[in-house]
Amino acid sequence: MSRIARRVSAYGTTVFTEINDLSQQYNAINLGQGKPDFDTPPEIVAQAAAALQSGSSNQYAPGNGVPALRKAVADHAARFYGMQIDPMRGVVITNGASEGIFASVVGLVDAGDEVIVIEPYFDLYVPTITMTGATPVYVPLHPPQWTFAPDELRAAFSPKTRALILNTPQNPVGRVFTYDELKLIADLCIEHDVTVISDEVYEHLLFGSAQHIPIATLPGMFERTVTLSSGGKTFSSTGWKIGWAYGHPDTVAGVARARQFITFSVHHSSQEAIAFALNLPGTYFEEFRAMYERKRQLMMEALGRAGLKFFEPEGTYFIMADFSEVFAGTPTEFARYLTKEIGVSAIPPETFYCAEHQHIGKNYIRFAFCKSDALLRAAGERLARLRR
Ligand SMILES: Cc1ncc(COP(=O)(O)O)c(C=O)c1O
Repeated sequence: MSRIARRVSAYGTTVFTEINDLSQQYNAINLGQGKPDFDTPPEIVAQAAAALQSGSSNQYAPGNGVPALRKAVADHAARFYGMQIDPMRGVVITNGASEGIFASVVGLVDAGDEVIVIEPYFDLYVPTITMTGATPVYVPLHPPQWTFAPDELRAAFSPKTRALILNTPQNPVGRVFTYDELKLIADLCIEHDVTVISDEVYEHLLFGSAQHIPIATLPGMFERTVTLSSGGKTFSSTGWKIGWAYGHPDTVAGVARARQFITFSVHHSSQEAIAFALNLPGTYFEEFRAMYERKRQLMMEALGRAGLKFFEPEGTYFIMADFSEVFAGTPTEFARYLTKEIGVSAIPPETFYCAEHQHIGKNYIRFAFCKSDALLRAAGERLARLRR
């Protein structure tokens, strides 16, 4: 008998591990994983250090999160979106948004239910659904504008649909869904009595005129949405894994019931520091956005010079580039070629699709631009060799 359970036996190594290893082997500039190569702002790190040294946060934190952070999450939702959240019953702190997603699916979806996933998707959604014994149902975004077809979305709903996982701003394509797109999703979820699990970890990574609208703010949606976010992207602290789920107390209760038996509680001192960070003045969020506008510009110039076409991201720190004019082969083959011959690593998106829809992303590769300006310029010089 296999030692490995059937529910995980089909999972291979993640594409991130493969590309990271290859990148290291060939000394490539790694624009694969969405991991900043610069540090968390020092004033936020200082709060974590002070919390560690105070002697009051080296033991288990309260299971649902420290009161200061739960209040900061509620205040942040009021400040940016005008939402009224009960900090004690409507917020749960999680080990990153990742645990928030897992706890939401375990806590709000039953085995045998269907869960709608928009493709290409963040890779942990589907294993989370299948580990729960539910079935993913896929709705693809179509390039080059990365929009969904309303008919395909409508057709994905069935009497078995229990939840829809939404991600806006969207990794990997960089879309920020518009009010009209969200309204269509919301109307269908209301019609079919479906819960939305809304992953909004890139909520502060917006470009140009793009505006982030939490789907929970649409009429009739608050009761049926759990919103997830985390400090990793907004405060360049992906290593801390401080996340949160918030919404109507009745929905959040399902997440909290599952979460208490996954990890019980979350790293204590980091919670105190993220509470401080969420309360930073508006200038922090404006400067953060300006910093990423510049990085996005550097990345777009580099891809343009290399002869790659791309959709200008409206949000996130990712860009999907079409390599069909410079390389003939699959995204994985291109990712290997790019690492070995050009010296830059990026992520092939095959694993962000179900097998049936992989052809939709067949010309694309994902670059992450959460890197220092100097590294992005150096990557640009190497990528220019693609055109030659
Ligand atoms: C769409 C999306 N959701 C969730 C996460 C994970 O967030 P966290 O690090 O807070 O677990 C990521 C990280 O890359 C992501 O891209």
